[in-house]
Amino acid sequence: MKNIVILISGTGSNMAAIVRCAERDRWSAKYAARVACVISNKSNARGLLFAKEHGIATEVLDHTAFDTRDAFDAALAAIIDRYDTPDSPALVVLAGFMRILTPGFTAKYAGRLTNIHPSLLPAFPGLHTHQRAIEAGCKFAGVTVHLVTAELDHGPILAQAVVPVLVDDTPERLAERVLAQEHQIYPRAVAGLLQQMGH
Ligand code: GRF
Repeated sequence: MKNIVILISGTGSNMAAIVRCAERDRWSAKYAARVACVISNKSNARGLLFAKEHGIATEVLDHTAFDTRDAFDAALAAIIDRYDTPDSPALVVLAGFMRILTPGFTAKYAGRLTNIHPSLLPAFPGLHTHQRAIEAGCKFAGVTVHLVTAELDHGPILAQAVVPVLVDDTPERLAERVLAQEHQIYPRAVAGLLQQMGH
């Protein structure tokens, strides 16, 4: 059985989309995979409630309790590694997890650590992507699912979806339409990786 560990910081709507897809498409039978744990660096992350309601283990790891990124990432890896054994390897899915990870952490889970970023990478890494796309006069915006490397919002692209930027668009309206696409492509990209990992 492969263990999917999802990291969130807030609403967790992408996490919820993955959980729903795993249930609906029976990932346990199809890919021998389950969403094993949802970890948040914020205790008030709304997504934690959704995970609990779906019978998924939850963990909170408050980054403000750690002096260094290395110490936080080591504690994070210790939780993940409870779900990462030779028989049950972990796939680590960042879904709105608002922490920069250290190179040691990204190397440890290389090839099975994914992120979703609300722009058409390599355009607009970082924050405020929708506002920046509108200000740049882009006619199209979108979302990218990629494997995580040491460089922020870089790494091999697994999936993208394109969303037109409308006349008089606002960052909020564009974000809403992009988010709807996120919920489509992230579960599909995760399923693709599970398939590659084999049984
Ligand atoms: C999404 O827009 C995602 O692309 C970005 O943060 C947001 C998280 O939303 N990385 P949610 O917590 O999944 O609802």
